[in-house]
Amino acid sequence: MGKIIVAIDGYSSCGKSTIAKALAKYAGYTYVDTGAMYRAIGLYTLRKGLQVTGDGLRAEEVIALLPQVQVGFVQVDGAQHVTLNGEDVESQIRTLEAGNRASQISQIKEVRAFLVAQQQKMGEAKGIVMDGRDIGTVVFPKAELKLFLTATPEVRAQRRYDELVEKGEKPDFAEVLADVNDRDYRDTHRAESPLRQAEDAIVVDNSNMTPDEQMQVIYDYFDRFK
Ligand code: DC
Repeated sequence: MGKIIVAIDGYSSCGKSTIAKALAKYAGYTYVDTGAMYRAIGLYTLRKGLQVTGDGLRAEEVIALLPQVQVGFVQVDGAQHVTLNGEDVESQIRTLEAGNRASQISQIKEVRAFLVAQQQKMGEAKGIVMDGRDIGTVVFPKAELKLFLTATPEVRAQRRYDELVEKGEKPDFAEVLADVNDRDYRDTHRAESPLRQAEDAIVVDNSNMTPDEQMQVIYDYFDRFK
């Protein structure tokens, strides 16, 4: 069989990007982390000093910035880094603040249209593994393989907590768990492209799987298309 599109969606911190990267390597495909694209735009709005007011972030202020923003990817030592107007911002986008801002700006229809168009272009030649929230539902509704990943909020908060500790931050577990729950709520309740499982997606709950077990399950699904 020829190359396919693999769409991976799911909640935050359930290991989507680790899985997507490993699968892309296994398949010899290109990996695209769409969350990083939303985070890069979020970072830009933080740098421009956009503030959340009583009625939330002002959509028109964010939309006005879009023509100034170019999001891309570069390979650094075999890893994919996101760029914002040519600057490698991979480490700056991986903070709680940038993640929260990404979740806020991702609710704006125009922001989504701006990034979805770029993502669809990236998949024109197939041979791509893309992860996000709306890949199987909006970006590539005809993707040959759709995976929907999930794990309990507690398991995901623990993973996020461990990641932050590893980066030298001093997180509070209750805060991280509250953040996971808030983000889930926003991602699933927003008006524009809420996170939901595509009808033809395969659900993988990895709460009780080791990384190796989970990858074996996923490689087996992919191998059906070989
Ligand atoms: O996967 P992540 O944590 O890096 O994503 C950051 C935020 O971006 C997340 O809160 C939801 C949003 N997002 C989105 O709305 N659609 C996508 N395809 C990817 C991410």
